[in-house]
Amino acid sequence: MYVLGLNGSHKDNGNTAFLLNEILKECEKGGARVKLESVHNAVMSAKTPFCVSCSSPCSRACYKGTALEFLFDEVSKADVVIFGSPVYFGSMSAQLKAFFDKTRNARANKAWLGKYAAAVTSGGSKYGGQERTAEHIHACAMVSGMTVIGNGSELGMGHFGVAAHSPANEDEYAIAQCRSMAKNILSLKI
Ligand SMILES: Cc1cc2nc3c(=O)[nH]c(=O)nc-3n(C[C@H](O)[C@H](O)[C@H](O)COP(=O)(O)O)c2cc1C
Repeated sequence: MYVLGLNGSHKDNGNTAFLLNEILKECEKGGARVKLESVHNAVMSAKTPFCVSCSSPCSRACYKGTALEFLFDEVSKADVVIFGSPVYFGSMSAQLKAFFDKTRNARANKAWLGKYAAAVTSGGSKYGGQERTAEHIHACAMVSGMTVIGNGSELGMGHFGVAAHSPANEDEYAIAQCRSMAKNILSLKI
């Protein structure tokens, strides 16, 4: 099983990265191959950071040969993709949304169809929109035909993914939810 974590924060060592690493660490202990990648760096490597619908269908012209193309290839190889984002104005970061907007080619080729997707969020407020952010991530994953999974497992019934109140490394509940999500991922029949 290959589990890929995608960090939608510009911070490589921030709260979102911490949560993704907690899950990936557990998945690795359970025998999965894991990797963490930065969505921010990939999106910024494209000729335009946002989709400007330069062609239809998408010709991939804006990201050919860039870190973003590499990242899309990585997603194509993954069995499970964990999308992580800080909560920005009640939703995912602009970087992560830009990443999804640039997946028209993958969608047209059904490249992500049937892969598992999960959401991880971190907000500065206790109820700052973490669950809404997870829903928005789920929606984008479903538009690409992915199968959304949550964080319920034998360790405990979760909800919509991991929702942390930063600093995430002090949020014991969210850390427990990371472990539960990892357990859920490891239980998938892949
Ligand atoms: C532009 C911006 C918008 C934000 N909006 C929210 C928000 O709506 N709700 C919230 O709880 N926190 C909000 N925050 C705080 C971040 O979500 C929080 O600090 C998060 O844990 C940062 O994660 P990171 O360290 O992975 O970047 C916002 C921060 C920024 C910079």
